[in-house]
Amino acid sequence: MAIPLLSFILLVFLSIATVHSKSTIEPCSVSDTCPAMVGYTLYADLKVSELATLFSADPVSLLAANSLDFSLSDIDHRILPSGLFLKVPVVCSCSDGIRRSVSTTYRARPSDTLGFVAGSVFAGLVSADQIREANSLSGGGGDGLEAGQSLVIPLPCTCFNSSDNGLPAVYLSYVVAAGDTVAGIAARYSTTVTDIMAVNAMGAPVVKAGDIISVPLPACASNYPNSASDHGLIVANGSYAISASHCVQCSCGPGDLNLYCTPALLAVSCSSMQCKNSNLMVGNVTFQSTSGGCNVTSCSYGGFINGSIVATLSTSLQPQCPGQHQFPPLLPPPSSVIRESFLSPAPAPAESGGSLTTPKSSVPGTIALPGSSPANGPSGSISGACSLVTFLPGYFILTVLWLFYFSW
Ligand SMILES: *[C@@H]1O[C@H](CO)[C@@H](O)[C@H](O)[C@H]1NC(C)=O
Ligand SMILES: *[C@@H]1O[C@H](CO)[C@@H](O)[C@H](O)[C@H]1NC(C)=O
Ligand SMILES: *[C@@H]1O[C@H](CO)[C@@H](O)[C@H](O)[C@H]1NC(C)=O
Ligand SMILES: *[C@@H]1O[C@H](CO)[C@@H](O)[C@H](O)[C@H]1NC(C)=O
Ligand SMILES: *[C@@H]1O[C@H](CO)[C@@H](O)[C@H](O)[C@H]1NC(C)=O
Repeated sequence: MAIPLLSFILLVFLSIATVHSKSTIEPCSVSDTCPAMVGYTLYADLKVSELATLFSADPVSLLAANSLDFSLSDIDHRILPSGLFLKVPVVCSCSDGIRRSVSTTYRARPSDTLGFVAGSVFAGLVSADQIREANSLSGGGGDGLEAGQSLVIPLPCTCFNSSDNGLPAVYLSYVVAAGDTVAGIAARYSTTVTDIMAVNAMGAPVVKAGDIISVPLPACASNYPNSASDHGLIVANGSYAISASHCVQCSCGPGDLNLYCTPALLAVSCSSMQCKNSNLMVGNVTFQSTSGGCNVTSCSYGGFINGSIVATLSTSLQPQCPGQHQFPPLLPPPSSVIRESFLSPAPAPAESGGSLTTPKSSVPGTIALPGSSPANGPSGSISGACSLVTFLPGYFILTVLWLFYFSW
């Protein structure tokens, strides 16, 4: 009795997951590109360089976007732990009339299946069918892949003009996890339920596991000219971006949402960063209190044009002299996942509401925590794995009930 019931539930679960999960579509007409992000949970321990290769991203930019210390010399070889959640910057193109990131290719390894590549390697950001379609694979070949086979991975992305309600924003494509609520997601990313509903054209604030929603992140915009190679640069609040061939770093927040750029000290040789007719460098601000207010002179980064760094001097009279500039804190790359998501703490259960949110805090915590004490190494991982297995059925049924509840 129990087994047929379970397989029935499994069938229903699979059909819901494949048929009903939705994602946000942004139509587009011009063949331009814009900056966006995808939210990615590591399916295994990965070196920073492996992760960067997976998304055709620059390792330094990837760390910078997550406020992880990108100035360390050995960052390519740092290992990031399975279960870690990161925001990956992607180039969002216009492909077949909709916004999509198509610059990622994946080389299949022995025993890879489409399902594994879609669901695990790319953590649900793409479906097996979408990979099949993007690569004109026939359905007849089944789920298997040939080792070495090269696959284009279409990733969801949106830009919506890099603005939200008239303010600069960068859009994160987020795969809804079991137990997530719109309110919880909004709180985690400093946005509102109304905003998320409007951006995703949702009739009701309801999401289910596997849905991909666009989350607007408050950001700092640049205004570099069209001729600049980093034209359109936008940096999410609390994070960094690297530009001008690793010569310049820009940050956003936490005090205000004005982009602030300084020399990056990552590259061997960089063009001059000094403002003309002054001894100020990019990022320098001097000021003098006068009777009419504060006379502020700043040398700011103005884009990377023809391989040169543009440095612009400006003066303004402000009511008050600026204080010391505050930078978003940089953390060392984590070696273990402490909570279900290291960088964006889950909202407290009370905040997300309802007893059905329990799976979220329990399951990923179980996966992520190699034993409860961080010090006990491999044996801890084994016990972690065991408790995951024993916990799964209950979690599974809860998920199914939850899906039933919201689907009908
Ligand atoms: C996007 O911004 C451009 C210029 O800032 C403007 O011309 C265009 O109408 C905007 N599009 C939308 C859909 O808001
Ligand atoms: C930017 O981030 C800081 C710190 O994380 C936060 O205090 C501030 O409210 C954020 N600003 C906006 C506009 O979201
Ligand atoms: C100007 O910026 C450079 C590089 O960030 C820094 O080393 C220097 O101390 C700054 N000078 C002044 C006067 O602020
Ligand atoms: C502000 O400072 C700049 C450079 O220090 C100077 O050239 C300018 O005359 C000053 N303006 C006022 C209004 O004091
Ligand atoms: C960039 O370089 C090209 C040729 O090298 C030149 O024609 C063009 O005017 C330059 N653009 C700017 C903005 O300096």
